[in-house]
Amino acid sequence: MTKRIVVTGGAGYIGSHVCVELLSRGAALLVIDNLANSHPEAINRISELAPGDIRLIERDLANPAHKDDIVSAVREFHPDGAIHLAGLKAVGESVAEPAMYYRINLGATLTLVEALEAANARSLVFSSSATVYGDENANPVSETGRTAPANPYGRTKLFIEEMLKDIARADSRWRTVNLRYFNPVGAHPSGRIGEDPNGIPNNLFPFIAQVAVCKRKTLSVFGDDYPTRDGTGVRDYIHVCDLARGHAAALDYLDKQTTGCALDVNLGTGTGYSVLEAIAAFKRASNRDIPFSIAPRREGDVAEIYADADRAKKLFDWRADKSLEAMCADHWRWQSQNPDGYKS
Ligand code: WQD
Repeated sequence: MTKRIVVTGGAGYIGSHVCVELLSRGAALLVIDNLANSHPEAINRISELAPGDIRLIERDLANPAHKDDIVSAVREFHPDGAIHLAGLKAVGESVAEPAMYYRINLGATLTLVEALEAANARSLVFSSSATVYGDENANPVSETGRTAPANPYGRTKLFIEEMLKDIARADSRWRTVNLRYFNPVGAHPSGRIGEDPNGIPNNLFPFIAQVAVCKRKTLSVFGDDYPTRDGTGVRDYIHVCDLARGHAAALDYLDKQTTGCALDVNLGTGTGYSVLEAIAAFKRASNRDIPFSIAPRREGDVAEIYADADRAKKLFDWRADKSLEAMCADHWRWQSQNPDGYKS
């Protein structure tokens, strides 16, 4: 039976890879994206990689003036469920503009919930983040770990998780999964879709990739005095294609649930790599030099965090299987073939 899935933020970095994965499994997609942090060319590339039934409506879930259009488009689509990726995600910006982050991230989610209710499709996979854990837990971090987000962006993710749990508790027809991403990196092996950040990248991998392709001169390594094996920050990098598979597995899991549920599930590899290890791996993959200098620690960074990934294996029979080398090789292929992202 063809699954019919609403994908909010489907033109974005994670979203485009999720769309390719779902289309390759025969799903029909309705993408809702305001294209504020994505490009319509991504939808063309998705269809090139996975021809199928995909429709984009350029609407903003956080704009009340768009709500009626969104609700009617979702109802007419007759979805089986939704994957909710649309939202603001820059940690630093969230500290400067907290009200905007709460209004947009929580407001968008409530509009989607209303549209799914109207369409009688109460199955939702939410794009959450390991940032909800903060710096409070021993590694590997499991879903039962203490949640203590250190910034407004992380708090929007946690509050949305709690909203979805309250909705599922109030109405057992709701089945939801909060996927707590660790650090998504890499790109589809074709090099045709990938991460295309606006302006100066906040995150490590896109910055390294832009140095490798000579768009940026040098990388600042934020601190080398952390209590880690080489003093630099350690993170659980996960290939974006493994992450996309995890979303399909979560939808399949929800399909099988006969009563309401609201689950938190980590999507990580269970292995942490330091900044210096990531730089060395990217140099090997790209055969390019990556000049860097040591800079002061970045406000809000944790020293080390990596996932306990057992619950996803147990519930979804899903595990990340791509190596750091594959993450770097695929990220490099995307960046070198698209030096200016989709604009090129
Ligand atoms: C990784 C490591 C930095 C940039 C954030 C969000 C999280 C998710 C992923 C959205 C750290 C170091 C980085 C640079 C550096 N985003 N670094 N120089 O901070 O773990 O997670 O992005 O969902 O929610 O919190 O990822 O890639 O920014 O940093 O040295 O120019 O690289 O200090 O140790 P982070 P990151």
